Amino acid sequence: MRRPLIAGNWKMNQDNREAIELARQLKVKLAGLDGVDLLVCPPATALASVCEILGGSAVAVGAQNLHDRRSGAFTGEISGAMIRSTGADWVLIGHSERRQFFGDDEDWIARKLLAAFECEIHPVLCIGETLAEREAGQLETVLRRQLLQPLENLGEDQLAKIIVAYEPVWAIGTGVVATPQQAQDAHALVRGLFASRAGQAAADRLRILYGGSVKPDNAGELLSCPDIDGALVGGASLDAASFQGIAAAATN
Ligand code: PGA
Repeated sequence: MRRPLIAGNWKMNQDNREAIELARQLKVKLAGLDGVDLLVCPPATALASVCEILGGSAVAVGAQNLHDRRSGAFTGEISGAMIRSTGADWVLIGHSERRQFFGDDEDWIARKLLAAFECEIHPVLCIGETLAEREAGQLETVLRRQLLQPLENLGEDQLAKIIVAYEPVWAIGTGVVATPQQAQDAHALVRGLFASRAGQAAADRLRILYGGSVKPDNAGELLSCPDIDGALVGGASLDAASFQGIAAAATN
């Protein structure tokens, strides 16, 4: 009943020319895939050109981050309105690399979520524990904080639109993928936490993506878990054939 979403996070890769080439390949390779929603998140410098290529296709385009203010003296930042002006209408919020390197904390993430909704941009809220936190038995505490604090000021309509990506930090870019059981357990936990805030019906509709070393050869097993509704793909999204392989696994 939840339609899968396969999202690609290109991170700080692909200059404008490379991004155009990858978008062209994706447009061809992903055409005709039924039963799955598709999203790519290029760097901000390539948003407008990628939107131009993928406009009218089934592949949505999003940014990897936004600032919570609409405009002003925030050197180096981009606002939701600016993202919208490129044609993109999705955004990743709270990715672990933002949390680790750029000071994104729950307060700021909460404001970014509100800013996204104000600009009619669909947010994907990224959460996940580090290895040290998992080993210290803090999985639930961390996921509770990262998920529920930013949701505090959202209304029912906004809660219904949010998408969550569970990305264990120890599995991102490491080649160490969570086992399907580890991922399923964490997703069930996230759904339960979301239900405590938004109610069971909303939690049943919530799409929760898994992220962390997803590849075409492990995607099928992960996506067959009952609470895994898609994937947020980093490295493998930079290769059109790999991304297509993962997207195809979601249609099975
Ligand atoms: P990865 O990245 O697929 O390269 O592990 C996932 C992510 O950071 O979203």
